[in-house]
Amino acid sequence: MTANAGRRIVVLTGAGISKESGLSTFRDADGIWAKVRIEDVATPDAFARDPEGVHRFYNARRRRLVGGAIQPNAAHVALARLEGAWPAGVTVVTQNIDDLHERAGSRNLIHMHGEILKARCSACGVVVACTDALGTDERCRECGIKGAMRPHVVWFGEMPLELERIDAALDACATFVSIGTSGNVYPAAGFVDRIRSRDNVHAVELNLEPSEGAGHFDETVYGPATEVVPAFVARLLGARG
Ligand code: APR
Repeated sequence: MTANAGRRIVVLTGAGISKESGLSTFRDADGIWAKVRIEDVATPDAFARDPEGVHRFYNARRRRLVGGAIQPNAAHVALARLEGAWPAGVTVVTQNIDDLHERAGSRNLIHMHGEILKARCSACGVVVACTDALGTDERCRECGIKGAMRPHVVWFGEMPLELERIDAALDACATFVSIGTSGNVYPAAGFVDRIRSRDNVHAVELNLEPSEGAGHFDETVYGPATEVVPAFVARLLGARG
């Protein structure tokens, strides 16, 4: 790890990092996809078929996120601290649609699956802040079309956001750290293989349990994110110079 100190770091995060803040993961036994079917709430077809149902699903999650009970945890805070203390640069690429990384202080952050606190007009494409419930009677402030506002999130079958920026960050990093993701969803699940095609890149998995891609990492540490992430960041910062 010391050999890489001073070089760029890319951190990929998934639902596991927000679990101890009180947000559910997707594929754990008590996860969201054990209670709701993907095809009912997280596809363009679902929105076309049952927009009210899809809005209800995201409205409930948005309401929880802004309600005050959900706060960044020690893992989010540790990553923000790393960004502030690592001159070569840290990019956090998150699959999460919550805003806990930015609330903790991360600034160089890419929301590849979108943001639940934004809405997008599927007619004109405008993206606006959204902290309230969305409904089918909503009119776009930009183009005036009614019923086209949708959560600014990436559904199954849609292209993740900012892939060019992510590719550039992956191509420039010396250390890749994957945190709290099960490695089931591409393209994020393929990032580790992408960076391993280059020499001298160190890939680390920090997760509660081995992910689907665990065997592709150089180093793995298993435990709750609020414990393993601060410890890993302290080790990185301690190894500097
Ligand atoms: N600390 C660390 N890791 C944890 C914790 C915790 N406290 N709790 C759970 N985990 C781990 C689980 O062991 C699992 O490997 O987090 C991972 C969560 O995996 P998923 O639920 O599959 O979430 P994620 O990988 O982020 O899902 C990717 O799938 O449906 C979509 O769009 C959604 O962005 C999401 C994508």
